[in-house]
Amino acid sequence: MSTQKGKKAGKITVDTIKKMKNRTKIVMITAYDALFAKLFDEEADIILVGDSLNMVFGGREDTLSIDIDTMIYHTNAVCRGAKRALVVLDMPFGSYNTKKEALKNAVKVYKNSPAQAIKLEGGKDKAEIIRYLTKNSIAVMGHIGLMPQSVRNEGGYKVKGKEENDIKSLIEDAKAIEEAGAFCLVVEGVKPNAAKEITKAVSIPTIGIGAGADTDGQVLVWSDMFGFFEDFKPKFVKRYLDGAKLIKEALKEYASEVRESKFPTSEYTY
Ligand code: KIV
Repeated sequence: MSTQKGKKAGKITVDTIKKMKNRTKIVMITAYDALFAKLFDEEADIILVGDSLNMVFGGREDTLSIDIDTMIYHTNAVCRGAKRALVVLDMPFGSYNTKKEALKNAVKVYKNSPAQAIKLEGGKDKAEIIRYLTKNSIAVMGHIGLMPQSVRNEGGYKVKGKEENDIKSLIEDAKAIEEAGAFCLVVEGVKPNAAKEITKAVSIPTIGIGAGADTDGQVLVWSDMFGFFEDFKPKFVKRYLDGAKLIKEALKEYASEVRESKFPTSEYTY
């Protein structure tokens, strides 16, 4: 977030994010290492160390197999690069099934990394867990709608909020999460009118992904938006860069220069 004079503000906190609702749109992006976190830090308000790490960089089919220690390792790297953006760790599948387990793992995150908050997937069913975490000084970002950790259970990635009663249930989820003390809420893969109603129904900011323009902010997975992940492009992803093409072209040039002994020239030699 920029100050009025265009100067960058200091470290963004959960409080900064809460106050952005109805004022400034929130820019969130994923990152998994210090190098890219540093590149994103100037523009992003929130950097999410998403469990999407398991798919985009781990090459796995879904997010489910990543563990808490891996998430902590990558979060520490991101925190070294992000001096300004709020850093959020995505709690892995199976790490918050009960209140006690959730708190044990969230405390492990806080003790072993400078992450400012954690994110977990689930609606009213997770409200008690969120309440227990927030009561114990853990800042929680919710995540409703399409929840990638439910992919095996639901038999695929299903868009939500198509029917009236589905929208009603999503609004109940959002309200339950807000009431439990979450500071912010990701709304993924829902019809735009549903996301708009959810956003109006709560006083905490909503961050959309595949949820239309009427949320308080947007998040995208960086390798999708910069065109590095070529296997598949969801409809909601806008490619702001043709990253894979640029890398391949540059690599081709390097390879041919090496093969033809054109690199290194004297300019690149001690
Ligand atoms: O894991 C992730 O990157 C996420 C975002 C897509 C919201 O949960």
